[in-house]
Amino acid sequence: MIVLGIESSCDDTAAAVVRDGRQILSSTVSSQEEVHHRYGGVVPELASRKHIEAIVPVVDAALAEAQVDAGGLDAVAVTHGPGLVGSLLVGFSFAKALAFAADLPWVGVNHLEGHIHSALLADPPPPFPFTALLVSGGHTSIYYVTGPTAMERMGQTRDDAAGEAFDKVAKMLGLGYPGGVVIDRMAAKGDPSRIAFPRAYLDKDSFDFSFSGIKTSVSRYLQTHAETCREEMPDIVASFQEAVVEVLSFKLVKAARTRECRHAAVVGGVAANSRLRERVRREAASAGLTVHIPPVSLCGDNAAMIAAAGYHHLRAGARGTLDDDVFSRSPI
Ligand code: KG4
Ligand code: ZN
Repeated sequence: MIVLGIESSCDDTAAAVVRDGRQILSSTVSSQEEVHHRYGGVVPELASRKHIEAIVPVVDAALAEAQVDAGGLDAVAVTHGPGLVGSLLVGFSFAKALAFAADLPWVGVNHLEGHIHSALLADPPPPFPFTALLVSGGHTSIYYVTGPTAMERMGQTRDDAAGEAFDKVAKMLGLGYPGGVVIDRMAAKGDPSRIAFPRAYLDKDSFDFSFSGIKTSVSRYLQTHAETCREEMPDIVASFQEAVVEVLSFKLVKAARTRECRHAAVVGGVAANSRLRERVRREAASAGLTVHIPPVSLCGDNAAMIAAAGYHHLRAGARGTLDDDVFSRSPI
């Protein structure tokens, strides 16, 4: 089954063509980074306008690269939430219209489920069951995944998402938006043990997270070290990153042990972080776990993961109807 995936939940317009939920024939992403950069975060109204400009060329590019036209598709899968409603509506309405015009079945896909499918697109994919750490700009959660459409949330952040903490700390340091990549790069030159920022492990058996305390702690550090913080910048970001990565790795490994899984996955934009990739691999290996982390191109928002997740729902008989709608908050 050849599925066209469409994703527009935040600030990336993406389309992809995937065969049988596994083979990526094309994956195109148009980033709006330069539009939002100067505002230090995503401006919803600008995001939806940019999606309107980008959606047709992005879908055309994905079809051309996969060497199929609408007649060669078997179905369409599109993100229906969670995300920015104005952004979601662009991809969603486009997908509905395309499916209607080409007489194709279509299905709405949960963005978070899509991210988990990016691990199933990795080589090799994790066998079921596995635990998945989903770390992005909007979410930080751990799931117990027993099948392509069966996932149970074990815990989630009680305040900021990990990516949001990276972005906010980068903003405080004047490093621009989005901050994750810049911090990742700069941290490689710093000493991660220089400053003991707090690690929020919360209750002993909880798989929840909290990142607001560390953000406040970095802000306080900057106030009390205003004269030296410029030269200390690599140490500050390395120490901040280490505190976040330590808690994420610990809880993922613990979740896998609790559910007696031998496989774990890390997905979402923050899964591109080089220190997180390294530390999770090391800690998982010493716990006898195999870790599956998608290539960096599939960590951030993309439509291949949406097509892959949609494929399984379509095979199970799910079908979208013209009166379906988008939603901003996630039920999973
Ligand atoms: O999954 P994603 O593209 O969009 C959401 O669904 O939120 O994730 C975006 C987030 C941003 O907060 C960005 O700063 C973060 O992922 N990010 C990183 C890295 N690359 C992207 N955070 C840390 N290190 C990175 N290398
Ligand atoms: Zn995402």
